[in-house]
Amino acid sequence: MGFKDKLKERLKGKLSEEELALLPRGFQTLGKVIILKLNQKLLAQKDLIGKVCLELFPKIKSIYVNVGKIVGTFREPEKIELMAGEDNPLVEHKEHDVIYRFDITKIMFSKGNLNERRFLATLVKKGEIIVDVFAGIGYFSLPIARHSAAERIYSIELNPESYRFLIENIKINHFKDIIIPINGDCKQEVLKLSKAGIKADRIIMGVFPAPKEYIKEALTLTKDNGSIFHYEGVVEKEKYITLFEDFNEIAESEYYKCELKSYRFVKSYGPNLFHTVIDIFVSK
Ligand SMILES: C[S@@+](CC[C@H](N)C(=O)[O-])C[C@H]1O[C@@H](n2cnc3c(N)ncnc32)[C@H](O)[C@@H]1O
Repeated sequence: MGFKDKLKERLKGKLSEEELALLPRGFQTLGKVIILKLNQKLLAQKDLIGKVCLELFPKIKSIYVNVGKIVGTFREPEKIELMAGEDNPLVEHKEHDVIYRFDITKIMFSKGNLNERRFLATLVKKGEIIVDVFAGIGYFSLPIARHSAAERIYSIELNPESYRFLIENIKINHFKDIIIPINGDCKQEVLKLSKAGIKADRIIMGVFPAPKEYIKEALTLTKDNGSIFHYEGVVEKEKYITLFEDFNEIAESEYYKCELKSYRFVKSYGPNLFHTVIDIFVSK
């Protein structure tokens, strides 16, 4: 029996037929917390639904509801509220052999990016130098440190709250020798790195809307024999090439050559809109 049917069974007679039909099909588990998305019409019943959900999962300590979007430069959750259980939004979420510690009410953690978080690490070759330009709490840096033989990962994060968890996550996963955390705006921070003579085999530009205004500075990290850039955006499926065209235009104006190596659709992001990643080989 699926999650929705289990909820329905327990809530029969307590919710109207219309409300029962609107119950969610799925949920996100982060550590010992479950996050639900509820239809607007069910919000008045959130305490009851939360209580029943908690009974269904004895190992779970809290149920939260996500009633907003992920917003702003820092990509923060707009509104996550407690439905039932302990009010403790600090989680330790284990994924791909990595522990991510963070506060679910302040920091996003996308279920749909699960495969991408693991996939990037599989591309990394022994001894690579990596710059994770929008590192967050270490979404990509941590699995790369765990699953590849990268030599060094420079992880740049602007939001002090995310940076605090990035530091903690480096510590609890024992990656102090591999990951160098940097708190600041990546526009300035990548320039500081390249001026210090640091060039990268791989540059991860994992944020959207597509971080077009950061390309020029990130290009200064390109190695003499070329570097791979992972560049993200949200586009219509058939228009994924526009991400490459935008990147290429800026790179050409800076006298770099670009070759589109591959692309993938990470997750759906609305009607015919997809969170997309392109992999570009850039050389002088
Ligand atoms: C949320 S992550 C996205 C990670 C990954 N794409 C994912 O979805 O799992 C993007 C991070 O970039 C950070 N950020 C935004 N602008 C920045 C800037 N100018 N310099 C450094 N970090 C920045 C945000 O604070 C956020 O933590």
